[in-house]
Amino acid sequence: MKKIAVLTTGGDAPGMNPAIRSVVRYGIGRGLEVMGVFRGWWGLINEELKVLSHRSVSGIIGQGGTILKTARCVEFRSREGQDRAYETIKKNNIDGLVVIGGNGSFTAAHEFYKQYGIPCVGIAASIDNDVNGLDYTVGTDTAINTALDAIDKIRDTATSMERIFVVEVMGRGSGFIALTVALAGGCEDVIIPEIKVDMENVCHDIVHGNLIGKMSWIVVVAEGAGKADDVANKITEMTGLETRTVVLGHVQRGGRPTAVSRDLALNLGRAAVDCLLAGKKDIALGMASGKIAEVAFETAIMKKELKIEQFYKLVKNLT
Ligand code: F6P
Repeated sequence: MKKIAVLTTGGDAPGMNPAIRSVVRYGIGRGLEVMGVFRGWWGLINEELKVLSHRSVSGIIGQGGTILKTARCVEFRSREGQDRAYETIKKNNIDGLVVIGGNGSFTAAHEFYKQYGIPCVGIAASIDNDVNGLDYTVGTDTAINTALDAIDKIRDTATSMERIFVVEVMGRGSGFIALTVALAGGCEDVIIPEIKVDMENVCHDIVHGNLIGKMSWIVVVAEGAGKADDVANKITEMTGLETRTVVLGHVQRGGRPTAVSRDLALNLGRAAVDCLLAGKKDIALGMASGKIAEVAFETAIMKKELKIEQFYKLVKNLT
């Protein structure tokens, strides 16, 4: 293996830049030429790529987003798009790919490997933390801390004005961000896709809280479980109490990666290069049980079951 290419695909995650830096610098150190592909799979289809040097990745370790840019590429789902991507790989003598992204990216990488046999190794980077077989992905810690910072601020006004807030967080089909910030932020309730929530119970708790003098309330809702406005309207309808909503949205995807996101990204970048050089392929890398772990793409893209009953109960117990 002489030449590899690195790309970021799907939704960006804070820590993608340190991952790129690690792949480039460690790869060069191991004697490889490293190319950067722009805008994910789109860049392979349209031959938008260039050789990266040590200097190309200077000063990016603390930057959110991705210097390579990223995209959700519809063309890559077609055989024609994949053929064009493969042509770019052959024309540029690329022997292996490092794909930095989430489970959508790994689904595409797995299909690509099956069709064309190009060794692909994934670095799990997604704020959603929904890659099956892995405990932690690059970007999750940063997104959680961003959401937590917002919730701490909302708490100030909620307490001062004795109001009920419904805060919607990202996570696609996963309640991981919601549950983690609800617990860490001392929120009174959380609504996630993994657990069926009875709105009557939520409202009963709010009314009971009011009766015993607890006037402010923060309910975190995962985007995969519903919309903040719908939950807030339901609460007002059932309790007669005023509510306010906050949708944190894409703010959770940005910002300087935390030390946890950076260190994970840097370690995974190194591991991805080592895996390719060792002839490994069709795998995603992330953190599991406190260690760098390899998981077959086929497994990584399956639905991740969150073991969260205890976690969920704790949010309720501590209210
Ligand atoms: O997968 C990351 C994520 O931020 C999800 O949490 C969210 O549902 C989705 O991407 C939003 O995607 P887009 O930026 O394409 O609207």
